[in-house]
Amino acid sequence: MNITFRQLKIFEAVAGFLSYTRASEALHLTQPAVSMQIKQLENSVGLPLFEQIGKKIFLTDAGNEFRRYSSAIGSQLEELEQVVDEIKGLKRGRLTIAVASTANYFLPRLLAVFRQRHGDVTVSLDVTNREQLLKCLVENRTDLVIMGQPPKGMDLVAERFMQNPLVVIAPPEHPLAKEKNIALARLREETFLLREQGSGTRSAMERYFTANELELSSSLEMSSNEAIKQGVEAGLGLGLVSLHTLAMELELKRLVILDVMKFPIMRNWYIVYRSGKRLSVVAQGFQSFVKQEAAKILSLPPL
Ligand code: PGA
Repeated sequence: MNITFRQLKIFEAVAGFLSYTRASEALHLTQPAVSMQIKQLENSVGLPLFEQIGKKIFLTDAGNEFRRYSSAIGSQLEELEQVVDEIKGLKRGRLTIAVASTANYFLPRLLAVFRQRHGDVTVSLDVTNREQLLKCLVENRTDLVIMGQPPKGMDLVAERFMQNPLVVIAPPEHPLAKEKNIALARLREETFLLREQGSGTRSAMERYFTANELELSSSLEMSSNEAIKQGVEAGLGLGLVSLHTLAMELELKRLVILDVMKFPIMRNWYIVYRSGKRLSVVAQGFQSFVKQEAAKILSLPPL
């Protein structure tokens, strides 16, 4: 069957009015044009859809069946038009984001505000470490990535939107907890709980320690910020995490930030996508929302 949307629309009008004249008026077409389209439609279907008895026209059995489907298709098309309009107006759509595990401490709040403002945006959020984020970018698996330092040598658009201070944490009863201006070298005597290889926090820490000629004597490796915080609370050692991860523990006084000289390590958050990627309207909206509003919406615990 070779049917056009135009023929369906014309069929709907004729079936609705049961009159070629009124249908052609409603569609702003000439009556012969309407009759011609119906003829062609009947030829494609291979059955008459209307029959004329006296001066009146009626739907045939095939016409009645055809009408059931054509009105369903018609309302689906209307719905599609609305959906497209909404997507254009940023009310709906799908957003695929991959974020560094540390960014997960603030991203849900940003998503909540964005959805409040823009309605029914479907979100697919992948929370992973820096290494996996780079893979997502290389394989073009995501609209946007939120990460620390974007990689060099990849063709990316990367906008910095907020600071990310990294701090040294200890349990409140730790001997260093009350000290001021702790020398960096003093950390050499401590056991450190480190994030896994591939974590941005971990590599920032390693770079910083190397630049300051500090080698740690003992360390344990853990694959999440939560594990590190729990480990530090339990007295396994000191930790180095983003201030973004600490709101609750500082509030409840389960952890303290040590006053180490040359700290915090100041990193930044970036929202990143591949240059040349055609961002959807929703993704564009979210990208500019993050750039303009994230730092205002999110507050960091005081240092
Ligand atoms: P991550 O944080 O340690 O959770 O990978 C990202 C970053 O700071 O680059």
